[in-house]
Amino acid sequence: MIAYTAKRVVTCDPENSTQDNPLGVIENGAVVLDGSTITWVGSAEQALTFFPDVSFHSYPSNVLTPGLVDAHTHAAWTGSRDHEYALRMAGADYETIAKAGGGIVSSMRAVRAASLADLTAELSARVERMALLGVTTVEVKSGYGLNLENETKQLLAVKAASEQTTFHPHLVPTYLGLHALPPEAAGDRDGYTRQVTTEFLPSIAKAGLAQYVDAYVDRNAFTADQARRFFEKALDKGLSIRVHAGQFADVGGAELAADLSAVSADHLENVGPNGIDRMATAGVRAVLLPTASFTLGQTPPPVAAFRKAGVHMIVASDSNPGTAPTESLPLAMALAVRLYSLTVPEVILGATREAAASLGLARTAGVLKEGYRADFVVWDLPHENAIIQPWGTVKTLTTVIAGRHDGRSQPLRT
Ligand code: NIG
Ligand code: FE
Repeated sequence: MIAYTAKRVVTCDPENSTQDNPLGVIENGAVVLDGSTITWVGSAEQALTFFPDVSFHSYPSNVLTPGLVDAHTHAAWTGSRDHEYALRMAGADYETIAKAGGGIVSSMRAVRAASLADLTAELSARVERMALLGVTTVEVKSGYGLNLENETKQLLAVKAASEQTTFHPHLVPTYLGLHALPPEAAGDRDGYTRQVTTEFLPSIAKAGLAQYVDAYVDRNAFTADQARRFFEKALDKGLSIRVHAGQFADVGGAELAADLSAVSADHLENVGPNGIDRMATAGVRAVLLPTASFTLGQTPPPVAAFRKAGVHMIVASDSNPGTAPTESLPLAMALAVRLYSLTVPEVILGATREAAASLGLARTAGVLKEGYRADFVVWDLPHENAIIQPWGTVKTLTTVIAGRHDGRSQPLRT
């Protein structure tokens, strides 16, 4: 057994929280672990009496939080879209570039050209860097293969990366079956949707390569009807649903998410009152991706309306080479406060407890509590409010994943 003590232990446990203390912070707190599991959380003073013989890692002037959970990434990419970025910054438009065969299809070409080994190595390196930023669980979508062989290759890369013995976050695979139309589909979205639904999805489900499915429901992407066909088949196969909805236009993605009890609807810069009400009633969480809307120069999603309706909000990085060229969930958290007016407790819960719940990890991750996985972060910061600024730098002292720490120095009680 090992104990970690810190000036502020941010438990994110609803049982510890009050109106004045929404994050359930324990001052001079302790977390005790046995192997990969948390066995006790409480005050440092009590920990010293209860567990006199365990080794103590003491951080008397630092913050300790649950490990961050990034619930929306496209991290299994390769290749650079720097050329497109320059065009966009000079005034070209994301959707126009995509229509001309760039965008997602440009990343498709890079992914198809990469070997499984190279894709795995790049993904592994990327998620290892995320761990240094404080991220201990990462959802990873496919969606750049756009045929069975290459979507499978992306998901095999996720599996291989999650089986590495190196220090890395837990990975959760999502089959993003409807992302863009590959050139060989020759503009036939209905035909491609049929092929994805009847051929690709059953094969991927049978191989056990995905826990979730996703579809990009938008103008210039897939319609709600097309996505519905794909999602219904996925539900039949026992997979749960996440939806890219309303990034550019409201075409009914939020309502579809509610109809099918999706775990989340993501982006939502464009969603109307009906979509919001339906999400609230069906318990669909809103995954906010401020790095993408910042990069695209968009108006924020209707955060005040989500709050009022009781829609739970998650903040994620959207890490991808087009709209969110970053690996940093802390950057997304910073932007969610700066651009979307989320409060600090909202972004911290949105990147821990809420994000974990959306990944089926409600009793496993995102909270510091007995029985949960020992995933947590010690920050080189005096207070959790500092997690959202300064930004653009590594602010962690150590990241612990399933009880294993990242090898950075561990101050011991003497
Ligand atoms: O979440 N909009 C769809 N999918 C991604 C972008 C993918 C890309 O441009 O490569 C997103 O923004
Ligand atoms: Fe995305």
